[in-house]
Order: sequence, then structure tokens, then C-alpha cells
Amino acid sequence: MAPKIAIIYYSTWGHVKTLAMKEAEGIKSEGGTCDLYQIPETLPEEALTKMHAPPKDTSIPTLDDPKTLEQYDAFLFGIPTRYGNFPAQWKTFWDKTGGQWQSGAYWGKYAGLFVCTATMGGGQETTALNAMSTLAHHGMIFVPLGYKTTFGILADMSEVRGGSAWGAGTFAGADGSRQPTQKEQDLAIAHGKQFYGAVSKKKEEEPQQQKKEESGQGQGQSKSQGQTAGEPQQREENESKGPCGLPFKCEVS
Ligand SMILES: Cc1cc2nc3c(=O)[nH]c(=O)nc-3n(C[C@H](O)[C@H](O)[C@H](O)COP(=O)(O)O)c2cc1C
Repeated sequence: MAPKIAIIYYSTWGHVKTLAMKEAEGIKSEGGTCDLYQIPETLPEEALTKMHAPPKDTSIPTLDDPKTLEQYDAFLFGIPTRYGNFPAQWKTFWDKTGGQWQSGAYWGKYAGLFVCTATMGGGQETTALNAMSTLAHHGMIFVPLGYKTTFGILADMSEVRGGSAWGAGTFAGADGSRQPTQKEQDLAIAHGKQFYGAVSKKKEEEPQQQKKEESGQGQGQSKSQGQTAGEPQQREENESKGPCGLPFKCEVS
């Protein structure tokens, strides 16, 4: 069965949104489908006006409830860097995922990412690297872009270009005036294709792997060890106590 993919991005000035569209183009060109979501804004209108941020595209749904993502097999996250890390808008979303963290609702899902920084050396790779902690805590499986399908673009030094083995990327320039170049857009399309290909392959392998594990031949835990393949371990005490699903012993007063 084809993987169910969501592309989720936050974008103040549109650079990451452009990449998100190109990632979707790549997935669709391979015969796949995906849904696009934008992370809710957290800045007040007054601040956005001062930052010359254009209005958000209302045709793309805003991802208010982290539960929405539970139905997907894989995600591509679009991150405009803030000091080499997620922006606060993204962090606010992650801070709402305590329930998914505790229940393992995102566990075993595939994740890739694409980024935007103002400048070279502004955090193209560190932004990806710093996102790993969030993915690890949720138990998501990071799918890097690598060089296999994009060596030509990634090894091309003839012009300034964002993106790396971690995923597609672009530079906005210090004043935000630079737009994603043709090469960066091509890389984002190639990234979408590669991500769809990698995740589809894994999805195809899943039933065989599950059979192996059920018969005790797989490397993972078998059912006899009290766990169904592909499912997170269920804690006996997984009653959520706090408003964000914090586990047993951690009570929010
Ligand atoms: C508070 C703040 C911090 C930022 N930190 C960095 C940074 O560390 N390195 C960098 O290259 N760009 C930095 N930027 C620039 C943004 O990453 C860039 O404008 C953004 O990725 C553009 O993408 P967007 O148009 O999709 O919002 C920062 C921007 C803001 C507002």
C-alpha cells in the first residue's frame, strides 16, 4: 500500500513554503500523494506587520491538533531556522505532542526535513541535526536525502545553493530578498521523489518483516515477548495524568 505522507511546514516569509510545494511536486511525480499542513502562527499580528510577513495562505490547512498526524506513515518537516534550531512556532507545536510522545503514536513513522537559513553557515546542517532530538524522543525514523539520487546537484559548486545530504534547503538572504533558486527547487523536487521512494520501499517490506517477527525469525521483539511488531511498548501505567499526557509519576499541578 502506498505510504500516507504529510508535509508540514512553518514559513514566515514564504521560502520554506516554496520548498514544501516542490517537495510535494516530487512526491506526486512518482505517483504518490501527500497532504500539506502549516504550523500555526504564534506571533501577534502587530509583530508580523513589523516583520513585513505576508498573510498566510489560507488554502493550506493549519495543523492545530497533533492527533491529525497519527494517521500518516511519514512526514516531511519544513523548518526555517532560528539560531540553528526550530522556530518557536514549531516548538509550540512539539510542546503539544506530549500525548503522542507518551503513547508512542508517532513511533516508527518516517521523517525527513528541509530547511531555510538566511546565510551560508547560518545553520543548514545544524538545524537538521538539532531536529534529531525531537525525532528521537518520538521514535521517528529519520530518512536522510543522502547523495545517491542527487549527487549531481549536491556536488555542484558552480553557484550558491542550499540543501545537503540531510535534506533540501534554501537561503533567504539576510534581508529575506533571496528566493529559492532553480537548483534549490530542483533539489526539493528530487528530495520529494527520493523520500517517497525510500518510504514506499520500507512500507512494502513491512508485511514481510512482520511475518518474520511473528514467526520469531526477525531481529525485533516477537509477539511471544509480549509485544506486537510495529507497535510501541504499552506501559501498564500509561494513564495520562496531565493536560499534555505526561506519564505516570509526572503530574502537572
Ligand atoms: C529570530 C530569528 C532568528 C534567525 N536565526 C537565523 C540563524 O541562526 N541563521 C540564519 O542563517 N538565519 C536565521 N534567521 C533567518 C531565517 O531562518 C530565515 O529568514 C527563514 O528561514 C526564511 O524562511 P521563511 O521565508 O520560510 O520564513 C533567523 C530569523 C529570525 C527571525
